[in-house]
Order: sequence, then C-alpha cells, then structure tokens
Amino acid sequence: MVNLKGKDILHGAQFSREELERIMDLADTFRIQLADRPGLDLLEGYVLATLFFEPSTRTRLSFETAMHRLGGNVVGFSSAESSSVAKGETLADTIHTVDQYVDMIVMRHPALGSAAEAASIAHSPVINGGDGAGQHPTQALLDLYTVRSECGKIDGIILVLCGDLKNGRTVHSGVEVYKHFNCKLIFVAPEQLKMPAEITSRLKSLGIQFEETNDLVSAIRHADALYMTRIQKERFVNPADYDLLRNSFILTREMIEANNPKLTVLHPLPRVNEITTDVDGLAGAAYFRQAKNGVYVRMALLAMIAGKM
Ligand code: CP
Repeated sequence: MVNLKGKDILHGAQFSREELERIMDLADTFRIQLADRPGLDLLEGYVLATLFFEPSTRTRLSFETAMHRLGGNVVGFSSAESSSVAKGETLADTIHTVDQYVDMIVMRHPALGSAAEAASIAHSPVINGGDGAGQHPTQALLDLYTVRSECGKIDGIILVLCGDLKNGRTVHSGVEVYKHFNCKLIFVAPEQLKMPAEITSRLKSLGIQFEETNDLVSAIRHADALYMTRIQKERFVNPADYDLLRNSFILTREMIEANNPKLTVLHPLPRVNEITTDVDGLAGAAYFRQAKNGVYVRMALLAMIAGKM
C-alpha cells in the first residue's frame, strides 16, 4: 500500500519501486486530465511555499505550476536576498515562520543536509528541491518518468550518465531510483568529477551493474538513453579548475547520427555548452519534454503528500 501522506521528500533512496510506479502512473493520469482542461480543484485551499535560496527556473516554476493546476496556491521567494535571511535570519527561524503559513514546503538551499534540517523543524512536509551537491529527488522522479515515456520501459535499459557526477545532485538521486529497475548504468566523467565513492560502493554492495569510463562515444553506441549534465560551476572553489573541465564532454548531432541515431537524450537543464543546439531537432532529444513532465510528476507528488491520492 503506497501512502505518502504527510511525508517529507528528502532523498532518492527513500522510494520503493511500488511508490515510484504509483507516482509515475498518477503523473500519467494528470497528463491525460490536463489534455482537455487547464486545471483541477483537487488541492483547492492548500498553500505551498517555494523557498529558493539558490537560482532555479524549472524546479520552482514547475512546482508552482503543479500547485496552481491542482487548484492550490503558492507563496515563496526566489532568492535569499529577497527574504529576511538578507537581514541575518537563520534557516531554522525562516522555516519555523513559514511553517505557520502553509501546508507544504519546497526548498532549495546551497548547504548539503539543509532539507533534512528544515524537515526536522517543520510540521509541514518538506520537499528537497536541491541541497548543495547532495540530492534532488523530485528531479530523479521526473527523469525516471521521462525514461519510461520515451523508451517505453525502464527495466533492463542501458543508461549513460555523463558530466559532473561528483557535484551533480540529479545523478546522485537518479542512481537511487534507477537501481530498482535493473538498468545497466554507465558513468562517463572526467577523473576529477567521477561519481562519489560512497555512491559507487553502495551500488556495488547492492549488486547494481555499472561501468565507469571517460569515453562518451563508446558509451552511447549501445545505450538506450543518455543523461547529460552540466559541469556545476557553482560548486568549484577555484575558477581555473572549472575552466579546465567546463568543456569535457560536448554532445553533437554528428556524434549521435554516427553512433546511435535512436538514442534518447535527457538533460535536467540548464545546459551551458554540453549539448549543441543542433541536437534539439532530433526525435530523441527529450529534454524539453522532460521539463514538461516535471509538472505532471510534481502534481502527483503534491496530491499524494496531501493525502488526496
Ligand atoms: N533541473 C533543475 O533543477 O533546473 P533548475 O535549476 O532550473 O530548477
């Protein structure tokens, strides 16, 4: 029995396969329902807070869209500077206060573990919209949903994860959901930005198949899907290190057409330089559909946390 009522969403590892399937099925239902009407009234009267201490386009706006399309309301801020944190207020006091106003909180914050800290304070459910280089669990849910929609299945696919696997919180959450589906994972990263050892060790202990390489072309040749990620400039202490690594992998149309024309290409976005814009016209370029899926998946999550589904 799947029941997310009142639950915090903090880490990709918290979901069972049954919960993942239920979220994706419900996202499908909302996608179909929204095809012939602009919105629903399921969460009428509910208020969601979106507290974004770091920049965001997709996560914040898709959560807000999801809440509006469910008939609820949204309050929040999009930068620390526009909140009383700029006057010196602590995260704890900010959460204590917002918790008095709303029914659910989505938060993005640069500090690792900040979402768990917020959840320990708030009575309202807290959804982690990204905590530093830690986790971004709702992105992993919409990525999983997009793989299912685009590839027609998740079980047994070959999925390449490429880019900044050290700092990319979407891939840290991603492996935690893909592990339920017997996918073969190929990690492509420069040596300095490999998947953290604590994650690869855990995958090994769970018997999850993965390979590590820095050869993107070979990796995509037999893959079903490629998940490109941005080199996370904001996590580098030394700008020169970023400059050295920023163009480590650039996916081009030519690479796809020569090696795997049927490849499904995902990216959590924003992209900087890692997918050339001529890829956008290929049938397998799924990243803007993926962004749209964020609304359906986040609708499903909000409805389930509210206990309406
Ligand atoms: N994918 C993602 O988290 O995008 P934003 O940073 O725009 O929210």
